Amino acid sequence: MGLLDGRVAFITGGARGQGRAHALALAAEGANIVIADAPRPMNLTYPLGTEDDLRDTAKQVEELGAVCIPITLDVREPDAVNAAVAETVSSLGSLDILVANAGVVSTGPLDEVTDETWNQLMDTNLTGVFHTFRAATPVMRRQRFGRIVATSSMGGRMGIPELAAYNATKWGVIGLAKSLALEVAKEGITVNVICPTTTRTPMVQPVGGDDVPDDLVRRMMKANPIPQPWIEPEDVSRGLLYLVTDPGVITGSVLEIGLGGSARIH
Ligand SMILES: NC(=O)c1ccc[n+]([C@@H]2O[C@H](COP(=O)([O-])OP(=O)(O)OC[C@H]3O[C@@H](n4cnc5c(N)ncnc54)[C@H](O)[C@@H]3O)[C@@H](O)[C@H]2O)c1
Repeated sequence: MGLLDGRVAFITGGARGQGRAHALALAAEGANIVIADAPRPMNLTYPLGTEDDLRDTAKQVEELGAVCIPITLDVREPDAVNAAVAETVSSLGSLDILVANAGVVSTGPLDEVTDETWNQLMDTNLTGVFHTFRAATPVMRRQRFGRIVATSSMGGRMGIPELAAYNATKWGVIGLAKSLALEVAKEGITVNVICPTTTRTPMVQPVGGDDVPDDLVRRMMKANPIPQPWIEPEDVSRGLLYLVTDPGVITGSVLEIGLGGSARIH
C-alpha cells in the first residue's frame, strides 16, 4: 500500500532532473504519472530536456509498476497545456497532484540581460506556471481535491547578483501560488511552493559527473551555510512528497530546501 495509491500526478519538466526524481518518488508511493516536457528550442547555455529523456523517465516509472504517460509539451503554449490536462483526465480518470516544475535559468549582470532572455525566463518560469495552474484548477475544483506544488528556488527568497531575471520569475511564482491558495482554500485544494537551493541536475551541471563546479555553483556554495555545492534531486522530492501527502492543512506555504539559506531570510 502506497501513500498515493489511486492518485494521478501531472509533472511539467518531468523528462529529467528534479521532475524525473519527482515522477519516481510519487510512482513509488502508488501514483500514476503524466510527465510533460521537451519544449521548443530556447537560446540558453545548456540543452533542454528531449523526447528521449521523456521516454527514459517513462520507462523508469513503469518499472515501478505505475502507468506513465509522456507528453511533448511547452508550458509557454496555453492551448497545449489545456490539452495535456484534458488528456490526463481522459486517460487516467483524474488530476490529483500538479507539480509545476518546468523552468529555465540564465545568468549575467542585469544590464546585459537581453529582451529575448528576459522573455524566455518569464514565459516559462512564471507564465508557464500560470498556464499550468489555470488548466488544472477547474478539474481539481470539480473533484474537490487537489495538491498543487510549484517549484520556485532559494532565488525566489532573496536577491542574488547576476540572477535578477531568474529570481524575479521565482519570486513571482510564490505570489501566484499564495494567491491561488487563498482562492481555493475552501475547496479541498492546497497550493504550496518548494524552494530548492542549487540542485545537481543538467540545469547547473550540463556536462554531468562530479567535475569542478561552474561559476553558478561556486556562487551558490558561498550562499549555502551548510557547505555543500548542491543537493540531490531526491532531496527535493522528499519535500514534495511531504506536501502532496498532507491531509489538507498546509497551504500557501513555502518549503525551503536550502542548505541553511532559510536562516538568512525573514
Ligand atoms: N538545479 C537547480 O540548481 C535549481 C535550483 C532551484 C530551483 N530550480 C528549479 O527547479 C526546476 C527543475 O529544474 P532542474 O534543476 O530539474 O533542471 P533541468 O534543466 O534538468 O530540468 C528542467 C526541465 O524543465 C523543462 N522545461 C524547460 N522549459 C520548459 C518549457 N517551456 N516547457 C516544458 N518544459 C520545459 C526542461 O526541458 C527540463 O527537462 C526548475 O523550475 C528550476 O528553475 C533548480
